[in-house]
Amino acid sequence: RSRERDLSRTLERSLPQWLVEFLREAGKIADSLGYRAYVVGGFVRDLLLGQKNLDVDLVIEGDGPIFARRLAETFSGRVSVHEKFKTAVITLPSGFKIDVATARWEYYAYPAALPTVELSSLKLDLFRRDFTINTLAIKLNPGEFGQLVDFFGGLRDLKDGVIRVLHSLSFVEDPTRIFRAVRFSARYGFRIGRHTLDLLKGALKLNLVDRLSGRRLLNELRHILSERDPLPAIRQMAELDLLRFIHPDLKLTEEGEGLIKETEASLSWYRLQFGEENLKIWMVYLLSLFDRLDQKRFATALARLEIPEKKIRTLLEERGRLFRALEHFKKTHSISKSAIYRSLEGLSSEMLLYGLAKARDQASKQAITLFLRELRKVRPAITGQDLKKLGIPEGPIYKKILETVRDARLDGLVQNKEEELQLVHKIFKEKEKANR
Ligand code: CTP
Repeated sequence: RSRERDLSRTLERSLPQWLVEFLREAGKIADSLGYRAYVVGGFVRDLLLGQKNLDVDLVIEGDGPIFARRLAETFSGRVSVHEKFKTAVITLPSGFKIDVATARWEYYAYPAALPTVELSSLKLDLFRRDFTINTLAIKLNPGEFGQLVDFFGGLRDLKDGVIRVLHSLSFVEDPTRIFRAVRFSARYGFRIGRHTLDLLKGALKLNLVDRLSGRRLLNELRHILSERDPLPAIRQMAELDLLRFIHPDLKLTEEGEGLIKETEASLSWYRLQFGEENLKIWMVYLLSLFDRLDQKRFATALARLEIPEKKIRTLLEERGRLFRALEHFKKTHSISKSAIYRSLEGLSSEMLLYGLAKARDQASKQAITLFLRELRKVRPAITGQDLKKLGIPEGPIYKKILETVRDARLDGLVQNKEEELQLVHKIFKEKEKANR
């Protein structure tokens, strides 16, 4: 064996020590059960590329669930089993998750009389996968721990930077792989192999993508738009003419590329300010990608992706309000904070960040960043309780008063609770005067 196929050193060097110990223990447990255990797929690919990836997928030649229970027990983890598919997910006390799958003989009714071919159920399991670079495995059993298993030339393709399918029906069996090919090739700067590209184009001619459910199409798109820099993949989708499957009028223009870059900038700004919590980054990119679609086409594209109708209505409404706000900001000199608040109130962070990317003029950009950073948190110090104590009869007037007080606070007209109460008093007196 050549030295490059022994990856135990690489594992030790690249992974946290506890994970190496975990993998060694997994190998020991498999051994004790008479099984063989492998870590496979994206984890191995990224290990060899020197990229961080802690998505551990184990494949067991043996009974996956039995193995998973024993492994979970050893590390005081939890396990949830899918007996029908013989898969399991182990959750360690730290929250770390490990997927376990079973490579089974009985899945593959192979002619028993095949000569001299040593059948490995692992090999059959890996053969069903998308690209050669995703078919690499590492042995975990003691005595062979760390040895690379490469049935389909994945290592060479990793080195050459090529995305290659395993057989010619791959895209037909699973058209989502068309988008996966784009995603991996853009992520790693790999090219799609010539034959693979022909097969991909063949699959496009068969209109298989049109038959993909919106849910699956959205899932692929979401993955692409969640890449650290999605622009190369979006470009490649445009080059392969894949955008039309989302909407026939969806194009990537030079201006559109500019907007994607601006989106990246607005997202980096946001991350610096607030971290990534609760932000659907892919949604910000989706809004930017759909920028040139009018409201009607925008809705049609979202419907193609099987976004729920209610969500589409919300997005349409928010988008309309954002566009009006941007127009307003552009035209208005020195807009007040309360006016900014009223224009942007209730818009999702995703919509606002799209707006921030889309805004051309400095005034609009400042308005949106100011809103995100400060204004949207502003609340009056007084509450409905205080209004009640003042003897104001309950009703829709409460909302009106509280909004007025909030606006005054935004514009610096009141600074504290006392001043707010004085303001309420004043409003009330004026009301009474008017009513008289
Ligand atoms: N797979 C496949 N066909 C698909 C989806 C997945 O063959 N349509 C296989 C791939 O070989 C992949 C494995 O299932 O390695 C796990 O899928 P996933 O977690 O989506 O891929 P990763 O390779 O881990 O990619 P990522 O780094 O984006 O998570």
